[in-house]
Amino acid sequence: MAEESAGIDALSAENRRFAPPEDFKRDALVVGTFMYDEANEDFHEFWAGQASDLVSWSRQWSAICEWELPYAKWFVGAQLNVAYNCLDRHVEAGIGDRVAIYWEGEPGDTRTITYAQLLDETKRFASVLQGLGVGVGDRVNIYLPMIPEAAVAMLACARIGAAHSVVFGGFSAQSLSDRINDAEAKVLITADGGWRRGEVFPLKTAADEALATTPTIEHVVVVRRGGNDVTMVDGRDHWYHELMEHASDDCPAEPFDSEQLLFLLYTSGTTGKPKGIMHTTGGYLTHVAFTHKYVFDLHADTDVYWCTADIGWITGHSYIVYGPLANGATQVMYEGVPNFPANDRMWDIVEKYKVSIFYTAPTAIRTYMKWGDQEPAKHDLTSLRLLGSVGEPINPEAWMWYREHIGGDRCPVVDTWWQTETGGIMISPLPGATTLKPGSATFPLPGISAEVVDDNAAHVEVGGGYLTLTQPWPGMLRGIWNDPQRYQDTYWSRFPGRYFAGDGAKLDDDGYLWLLGRVDDVMNVSGHRISTTEVESALVSHPAVAEAAVVGANDATTGQAIIAYVTLRTGFDADVKTLRDHVATEIGPIAKPKAIFFTPELPKTRSGKIMRRLLRDVAEGRNLGDTTTLADATVVDELQTRAAQAPPED
Ligand code: WT7
Repeated sequence: MAEESAGIDALSAENRRFAPPEDFKRDALVVGTFMYDEANEDFHEFWAGQASDLVSWSRQWSAICEWELPYAKWFVGAQLNVAYNCLDRHVEAGIGDRVAIYWEGEPGDTRTITYAQLLDETKRFASVLQGLGVGVGDRVNIYLPMIPEAAVAMLACARIGAAHSVVFGGFSAQSLSDRINDAEAKVLITADGGWRRGEVFPLKTAADEALATTPTIEHVVVVRRGGNDVTMVDGRDHWYHELMEHASDDCPAEPFDSEQLLFLLYTSGTTGKPKGIMHTTGGYLTHVAFTHKYVFDLHADTDVYWCTADIGWITGHSYIVYGPLANGATQVMYEGVPNFPANDRMWDIVEKYKVSIFYTAPTAIRTYMKWGDQEPAKHDLTSLRLLGSVGEPINPEAWMWYREHIGGDRCPVVDTWWQTETGGIMISPLPGATTLKPGSATFPLPGISAEVVDDNAAHVEVGGGYLTLTQPWPGMLRGIWNDPQRYQDTYWSRFPGRYFAGDGAKLDDDGYLWLLGRVDDVMNVSGHRISTTEVESALVSHPAVAEAAVVGANDATTGQAIIAYVTLRTGFDADVKTLRDHVATEIGPIAKPKAIFFTPELPKTRSGKIMRRLLRDVAEGRNLGDTTTLADATVVDELQTRAAQAPPED
């Protein structure tokens, strides 16, 4: 094919820009380019400086980084205790009375937990785990709702050198059992249930089902949250509050090696069995503390930070637990859904706790757009000074809506690109230093080096291609649990010597990076490689559209044809022709969808990513493959019915 080295075509252009506002710059931690300059000079020394500055060590390293492709070690020979860094040292520094967590349950009950209280709870639960036979290097599984005990459980493991493996509370018994067995975990920490959409969802019942096939689990600790009935197995199952009643708070934080396993976190990928991504302590903590501080311009004594992710995802690990707590931040943690009891719950919470930094996902932002401008308008959101986005490419129009309706046209929006595998943020603006373009994650952070390449691994200066990382970084994954071959094959084989993230990206004339989605989602229309993200963004730029998902379906004439699924904003209307013409105007006739289906919801994973694979199955009239990771399976049934009723036009 003529396009052999073409990578991915870059089609859309965005000309709006937002320089850091003067009053934001006045107090910003980073203004100008000094930090980039320092890192460019010597990235090892740069990270070592951050490690000394942001983390407390019990023993100094003998080497900053040892790199034997594809394995890195950071701060070799050094020792630290992660829980000490997140808790004890703040209490020792005299800020034990600072609020660590403002927790809000879905029904409206609240808890305020200071650093001193969180430390006390963590020490006691660490003793409990030791009493249950958990030792250094053991794995502990955590299957909890969004309650403070989830953070306590993770920190307690870190304190005693055990590794945690958190499984998102929305996953099924089968998923839990698979992950427990792969990790060979000794203890499971779960709850009776949690609150979601005004009801208690049972967790212990699912855990019981999983436990029927998990021979390595010796003990189960059950937190009481839902108040629902549970079955307790004598000798194996214990109530958290009963164990804690007699627990000793004498549990010193022993130092562990910088490469001690901190956690496993399983990511599904599109096919195959989930991969247990391994993260260790010293480099990871340095990376998440650094990025949390500088990307969010954290002023720990005054800011109230809120990351809306679930603790079961990497975002919750890095930017609810380890980054914010290492930095002594005050944060909000919320248990439930954004539309209980009404569509303005998030804005109600922002107003109530005077949240100043808000970090959420594009899928959530597009949902708020769909619900309408009147919801945030009901609340005083003037406490906000910075907004963040993560999880998917953010469409320029969603970015603009976020900035205007949530950020009051004054807050910088940082679009942060990273992955479970990278451990922490990799590509993002620094809000006091970077001029923003709506929809662009802008530049690699200081100390990070990314490059876009074409099919032949040749450097791309301007235009589309594959996003690769060219140097080790402190928070990088250390491998896949029990599967070194898969680690090598998945991340280090497509472009030898480089980490390939699986994402397409383009560089514009000013050197800004634009993420184009997973390369598996790229469409090939008449020999042009078009990114689903760009066509989706063009659709979302129409005032009537809240959200769009685009897929390439097999087509006898063009190779693939563009099929779009569109959700309209409440109170708006648009027809197929208008939207097709709109895409033609925005990007060009080549990107015009062949067919457009309207739908009230799009099929998404439980972490909010659009499942384009399923939409491709629908578009090509195939039986659906694995749908177990779908958040709401009825959405696809509905789409299949519609596809059968209304065949694509043209
Ligand atoms: C994939 C990683 C990182 C925590 C949450 C997701 C996509 C993530 C962005 C962004 C464009 C993004 C990528 C990436 N992604 N952030 N700001 N812009 N795409 O973690 O589940 O490991 O997913 O999410 O495709 O590879 P994850």
